[in-house]
Amino acid sequence: MVLNQIEELASRAFDELGKVTNSRELEAWRVHYLGRKSNLTQILRSLATLPLGERCGVGARANEVKEAFEASLAEKKKSLEQGLPLSLQRESLDVTLPGQQVLLGRLHPTTQILDEICDIFSGMGFQVVEGPEAEWEYYNFEALNMPVDHPARDMFATLWIDFETEAGDRPMLLRTHTSPVQIRVMEKSHPPIRVIAPGRVYRYEATDATHEWMFYQVEGLAVDKNITLADLKGTLFEFARRLFGGGRKVRFRCDYFPFVEPGVEVAIDCLVCGGAGCRLCGNSGWIEILGAGMVHPEVLRRVDIDPEVYSGFAFGMGVERIPMLRYGIDDIRLFYSNDLRFLRQF
Ligand code: PHE
Repeated sequence: MVLNQIEELASRAFDELGKVTNSRELEAWRVHYLGRKSNLTQILRSLATLPLGERCGVGARANEVKEAFEASLAEKKKSLEQGLPLSLQRESLDVTLPGQQVLLGRLHPTTQILDEICDIFSGMGFQVVEGPEAEWEYYNFEALNMPVDHPARDMFATLWIDFETEAGDRPMLLRTHTSPVQIRVMEKSHPPIRVIAPGRVYRYEATDATHEWMFYQVEGLAVDKNITLADLKGTLFEFARRLFGGGRKVRFRCDYFPFVEPGVEVAIDCLVCGGAGCRLCGNSGWIEILGAGMVHPEVLRRVDIDPEVYSGFAFGMGVERIPMLRYGIDDIRLFYSNDLRFLRQF
């Protein structure tokens, strides 16, 4: 009986204490629950009148509750003095605790170099465009002057996509280079055209330190009246100097790609030995960075651009090559094997 009374009293008291908002209310609460005439005091005083069996339990509980009241009173008093809501005080903030480290992400080395390349060409008036990675054979080969059975297709070990189209006979593949974007751009727009197209390309090849089955290229294309090989040379020369630094030497040599005529291979003097010859450049002093050339008249004709009126240049470069040269990375596979110890260095 008496124990019940105590519990009820306690819960009412704590309830009301929670609602107290100033010291006057707090004093009233103290008088009501802990004062000389309070129920609790009366229970404690009348312990002697209880039957012996009950006395002990009631006395212990009543004293416990009294102590709890006193402690809560003191706490509440302090909180009112500090003027902060109790909830805030409970969530005290220890500014001396060590902080929680926020992990910052970073850009992949390939993304960093792509950004740099795009910046340089944007600065020269090129627009950045993109094309699909799953591509029609038509764009990857046919429209680039490589009909079925053209031997140059062997330059591009191809990953074919095996599926049934409604048309039945339009083969699809993972693009082996970014050159199909040239065709897509020329189909849709009229000269003057100046675009670069960064993106992933795929080759059906065993991987080793210098080969990946997926890597990045940046394609470049300019078509207008009176564009000559000199424009190509000037553009790439400027690009190489902006990317690799002022003193860079750039070498142009004849090369063959079915979709350009003439075709060139572009190299820069070796960043490591400066042209003297070392392991990196295979003792040649030169490092190939891209393939390029004047857009083949046949390619222009296919997209309804009159080669008698317009001419253009195109180039395509491997992207990973550049950070590999710059940072002395000797294995291209490091780029896409997701090893944080590698990636964190950039
Ligand atoms: N697409 C060629 C390659 O992947 C590079 C290239 C692009 C050459 C444009 C000439 C012109 O090897």
